[in-house]
This record gives sequence, structure tokens and C-alpha cells, in this order.
Amino acid sequence: MDAIRWGILGAGGIAATVSADITALPGHVLHAVGARDADRAAAFAHRHGVHRSYGSYLELVTDPGVDVVYIATTHAQHQEHALLALRAGKPVLVEKAFTLNAAQARDVVAEARLRRLFCMEAMWVRFHPLIREVSRLLADGAIGKVVAVRADLSKRFDFDPAHRLFDLDAGGGALLDLGVYPAAVVWTWLGRPDTVQATGALAPTGSDLSVGMQWGYPDGRFAQIHTSAATDSPFAALITGTRGWISLEPRLHRGRRLVVHTADGDVEHLAPAIAGNGYRAELEEVARCLAAGELESPAVPLDDTIGILDVLDDARRQLGARYPAD
Ligand SMILES: NC(=O)c1ccc[n+]([C@@H]2O[C@H](COP(=O)([O-])OP(=O)(O)OC[C@H]3O[C@@H](n4cnc5c(N)ncnc54)[C@H](OP(=O)(O)O)[C@@H]3O)[C@@H](O)[C@H]2O)c1
Repeated sequence: MDAIRWGILGAGGIAATVSADITALPGHVLHAVGARDADRAAAFAHRHGVHRSYGSYLELVTDPGVDVVYIATTHAQHQEHALLALRAGKPVLVEKAFTLNAAQARDVVAEARLRRLFCMEAMWVRFHPLIREVSRLLADGAIGKVVAVRADLSKRFDFDPAHRLFDLDAGGGALLDLGVYPAAVVWTWLGRPDTVQATGALAPTGSDLSVGMQWGYPDGRFAQIHTSAATDSPFAALITGTRGWISLEPRLHRGRRLVVHTADGDVEHLAPAIAGNGYRAELEEVARCLAAGELESPAVPLDDTIGILDVLDDARRQLGARYPAD
């Protein structure tokens, strides 16, 4: 099969990190980059060996040589930019958080489904070998029936009202930046919760700063999810079951070790060395889906992406953190 020719939309931080992984993958080519500023796009192209650069996103998405567009702008722009690419007939990989809220996500997913174009949230943590290993262990009943899950992803940022993490206009907040990871992981293991309770603190700008969520399930299982942009935490996840527990450490999106504890003792699993920056597996999944003509990845279902944003919308409502776009 021919190489996948990527178009990078936005020339910021994550665009650079993921581009390095694209470059290193056989069968993947950095065909073009588009930025709001032509010089910035050209500088990015020069730095990362991208064949073409454009000073507008429209030129990028209408380049007939682009097979798939990677939406690498800030989350407040994802809906607009994903729609731009889809309406130009291009499949999309959309950075997390997929959109600001579930309504925007439904809009993007409806467009992709209408046009029969591939669309996936870049939820790379779902491809992490230890997250997948936990899924396998739970399916095998390694710790009996799951009773509860605790998961955390937190990282301390100095408060800066201009930083996108604290700026409501830019989709600021711990939930969309960090909490979306434990939410996606818990969803992978337990599915859609029945009830959601949220508590926490807001930053002076009104963005969610530290959040504790409790998810409840009709059969009595529950999950406690923590996320904070005000503190660091080494904790990743603990899954307790009727016959033992699994702990994953540290931290959730870059787990290095998991321990399965049962009455028979402890079994340790170490993560294999992960090549590059950690994004290659999700990029390979995009290539696989495109080659197979699959419009959605079974590893990151679009209905999960929407459902998780429904839950995060609910949590933000409970906390009183609102985006102008809500
Ligand atoms: N998967 C991961 O591990 C990971 C890690 C970090 C971030 N992310 C996600 O990636 C996205 C981008 O984060 P980042 O850290 O790369 O941010 P960043 O360095 O600020 O880059 C964001 C890019 O967005 C573009 N943009 C377009 N319209 C914009 C607007 N109105 N305001 C601000 N920027 C605008 C800019 O592109 P131009 O170059 O065209 O100006 C800018 O370069 C976020 O959604 C974030 O959650 C994911």
C-alpha cells in the first residue's frame, strides 16, 4: 500500500512532537503543514522535513496530496478545524480533547459519518501496552469481579490567566487537558457510568482547576477520578476486584509498571520500551483503518469520545465552569 501522506493543521507544540513520530514510521510521510502564518508554517516545515507549507488551514486541507489531516490546534478550535478538513473531503485525526463539549463532538462526528470519512480522537493512552494489558487481565477475570477503580492524572501549572489551561475562551481547565485521560481509561475498563458526581475548585478565571469525580454504575461498581492542574501526583490507577487488585504506576498516561495482586501473590508486568514520543501506535491505527476502509477505530470509538464529553460537560456544570461555547 502507498505511504500515508499526513497534513499537519497547526504548527504548535504537540504538532512538533507527533510529527517526529510520523517521520520515524515507515509508510508515513509528512506531506504538508498549515499554520495561520506562512513564515511559521515554513519554519515548522524546515525543522521537521515537511514537504510543503501553507499560510492557511484552507490551503492545507485542499491540497490533493494530503491523505489525512492531523488537527493539532487548541481544543477550542477543534470543531471548526475538523469540520474544515472533513468538508474538504479529508479524513481526520483530532487531538484530545476532541472538542470543548459533547454538542461540538456530535457535530463533528455527524459530518464525518455523513461524508463517510474516517475520524478518530487522538486518545493515544488507549494504545499504551499496560492500559491494554489491564483490559486483557480484567476480561480474563484475573482479579475476579471489578468492584472499584481509582484513577488520577494531575500536573501542576503556575497560574497564568493568559495560559490556555486557565483561559475559558481557549477551552481551559484540568478536565479537558488532563482529566480526559483517566476518564477515557476508566471508560475503557468500566464503560458508560450511570451517575456522575463532581466536586472541586475553580481557578480565578473560572476554569476547573482540581476535580474529583465519582462515577456510579447500576450494578454497584464505582470509579473515583481525580485531576488537577494545581498539583503533581504520582498516582495512576488502582482497580480492586473480588479476588485481588491491579495497580498501575506512575503516571497514568506513561505507565511503567503494573502489579496484579491475588491470594497467590504478586505478579509484576513491566511496560516494554516505547519507541519515539509515544504516539506511533495511534498513528499506525489510523493507517490501518484507512487501508482497511474502516471509518472509525474500534480502539477509540467515536461514541465513547462523545459519551466521555457528555460526562465531562456534566462535571463542569456541577462545578460551575462554563465555556462561552457551551
Ligand atoms: N496528545 C498529547 O499528548 C498532547 C500533549 C499536549 C497537547 N495536546 C493537545 O494538543 C492541542 C494543542 O496543544 P499544544 O500544546 O500543541 O498547544 P500550542 O503549542 O499552543 O499549539 C496550538 C496551535 O493551535 C493553533 N491555533 C489556531 N487557532 C488558534 C487560536 N485561536 N488560539 C490559539 N492557538 C490557535 C496555533 O497554530 P498556528 O501554528 O497555526 O498558529 C498553535 O500553534 C490541545 O488540544 C492539547 O490538549 C495533546
